[in-house]
Amino acid sequence: MQTLSLAGANTVSDILIETGLLARAGQMMLETFSPSRVHIVTDSVVAPLYLGQLKGQFPLPVSHTVIPSGEAHKRLSTVEGIYHDMLAAGMTRKDLVIALGGGVVGDIAGFAAATFLRGVALCQIPTTLLAQVDSSVGGKTGVDLAEGKNLVGTFYQPRLVLIDPAILSTLPDSIFADGMAEVIKYGYIANRDILDMVSQPDYRQHIERIIYECVKVKRDVVAIDERDTGLRMILNFGHTIGHAAEKLGGYTDLTHGQAVAIGMVAAMRLGVLLGNEDLTAPLMSLLTHIGLPTELTYNREAVFQSLLSDKKKFGGTVNFILVRAPGRAEITPIEADRLHEYILKL
Ligand code: GLY
Repeated sequence: MQTLSLAGANTVSDILIETGLLARAGQMMLETFSPSRVHIVTDSVVAPLYLGQLKGQFPLPVSHTVIPSGEAHKRLSTVEGIYHDMLAAGMTRKDLVIALGGGVVGDIAGFAAATFLRGVALCQIPTTLLAQVDSSVGGKTGVDLAEGKNLVGTFYQPRLVLIDPAILSTLPDSIFADGMAEVIKYGYIANRDILDMVSQPDYRQHIERIIYECVKVKRDVVAIDERDTGLRMILNFGHTIGHAAEKLGGYTDLTHGQAVAIGMVAAMRLGVLLGNEDLTAPLMSLLTHIGLPTELTYNREAVFQSLLSDKKKFGGTVNFILVRAPGRAEITPIEADRLHEYILKL
């Protein structure tokens, strides 16, 4: 088993990675927590696959909430339903909430755990590659509002994150590829070994090692900037233009991973306009090898306007993540007017 520890300001998260770990998840949790009962939050896709297996591992009362699958349900009314289920089950502050699912489940269950009775312990069991390498680690929780995504939330570290790469074998290829966009992001921003690993034809055979290297990057970044005021922005490589494209597509034309893939290519091209080495061709061939798109098809003016409405704009500048060399990125503030010119040239 690979283990990583993330020391936050007031908390420590232990992150355990092992193929087959889900079968021992109950035991691992009972070694860390002493709850009287647990409440599992999962969704309608994951529940039939893993909820029964997880519930059966606890020698104590286990309740659950199954939420409908999809980002459309990442809202306050879903969280309220979870509070009611936890109260009906008799959950107290000493008990444990488990998030069993992808990024949406992790964000919602994390927010419910952070706010129920002013905070109960949380264990994340991510079931998608994206959640395993990114959203289950680092303590971001929250929900969407009609005005935009992730506008309400908290930083709340899970005490335990249990990552079982075997779970990924039940994922459709497109959902797996989605998570690979984040994997490639980690390679470009911090660790070029990840890029070498995913370039191999049989990279899926080495997914446990790949996940470990990605989580290590995230752990190192979050340990320095838990509350996302500086270095953590580096994790947004590809996300600035990616989010703009995702929004223009009404969150249905592109998945998050596809949008990030397109956003990384666009950010590389933008870097070239600013005088950086041209790394676009190897990135595009890697994305194609994984089965991800590379071309931004939206009108550039619309992309710029969509980007400006994103919350990552500070005053008249946008913090852009540019890659200087594979494994080395920099946060580069770009004045909005200059960025406008560059985006029209992409
Ligand atoms: N997914 C980016 C972050 O956790 O900061």
